[in-house]
Amino acid sequence: MGLTITGLGTAIPEQRLTNADLERMVDTSDAWIVERTGIRERRVAAPDETSATLGTDAAAAALKDAGLTPDDIGLLVVATTTPVQLFPSTAVRIQDSLGLRCGAFDVMAACSGFVYGLVTAAGMMTVDAGLKAASGGQPGGRPFLVVGTETLTRVVDPTDRSTCILFGDGAGAAVVDHSVEADGGLLSWDLGSDGSLVSLLEVPPGERWLRMEGKEVFRRAVRVVVESSSTALQKAGMTPEDVDLFVPHQANVRIIDAVCSRIGIPLDRTVVNLDRYGNTSAASIPLALAEAAEAGRLTGGEVVLISGFGAGMTWASAVLRWEPRQ
Ligand code: COA
Repeated sequence: MGLTITGLGTAIPEQRLTNADLERMVDTSDAWIVERTGIRERRVAAPDETSATLGTDAAAAALKDAGLTPDDIGLLVVATTTPVQLFPSTAVRIQDSLGLRCGAFDVMAACSGFVYGLVTAAGMMTVDAGLKAASGGQPGGRPFLVVGTETLTRVVDPTDRSTCILFGDGAGAAVVDHSVEADGGLLSWDLGSDGSLVSLLEVPPGERWLRMEGKEVFRRAVRVVVESSSTALQKAGMTPEDVDLFVPHQANVRIIDAVCSRIGIPLDRTVVNLDRYGNTSAASIPLALAEAAEAGRLTGGEVVLISGFGAGMTWASAVLRWEPRQ
């Protein structure tokens, strides 16, 4: 039995940071930012908002979307690059504020985190089903929650024009359950990492702000997303022509354009919402999925390719066949 997504939710801070606002903060221009990144505005968390509060709101919305209550949930996996504190996890704060009664833990894989979390949840669901079958019980089990939540603007130097234009805050969440269709749900995945590239994008130990070698991240991002997406498609026995909807990590529209043209997926089958949110790291893929579902682009039967990359470097792709609502 595989994993399928049965509910999606988002939480977007109210405050907008537009390119015009940034023109007043650093030596930049709306024209430069739009041409080089595609971003027009991002959201900034209010002082009382954290990765935990945003994650809680997104998870509550996903529960509502799935028609479930906190008691129904069997596990919480939270992907975040910007945890509330070093420990304990952001997941336990979300567990407490939602009133969940289940295990909860964080996954740290930067912008690839949501896909890492989804694959981890799928593995645990499979174990759950296998154990039940082995003991003679009914397969199945409670649904899980996978959350991507970030407050990236808190680790971005507001005086550094090469990074402060890129990142935004927000959260997205998915309720995941056992797949009901034999060929539905999560069909394949590919996870990768290369820790020799830590210095390309990091908050150095003991420092406050993130540092990035933008050009090199760009170059490698295109390569790893193309390779990882191709590997995931191959594992699912599919080609790019089979993909109905491509949901890439939202970092830079030029990265998305380059990836789409190299893989051979047209832009009209690709979700792009970074113009309104910037790069929200682990939140970007669930945010984009939720918007695509809201827009009626995911009704059932679609083959969906999701692919992320980020600090580490890490990368992660998965192929799902969307299942219609029961
Ligand atoms: N406004 C105006 N000029 C800017 C600027 C800004 N906000 N930021 C940088 N510049 C300048 C640079 O100083 C440089 O000037 P110079 O030629 O006089 O030195 C010039 O623009 C070109 O800079 P460069 O860094 O080569 O631009 P770029 O085309 O590579 O774009 C990024 C920079 C950061 C937008 C791009 O490299 C990128 O998006 N990289 C990937 C980052 C990413 O996705 N990170 C997250 C990974 S999850």
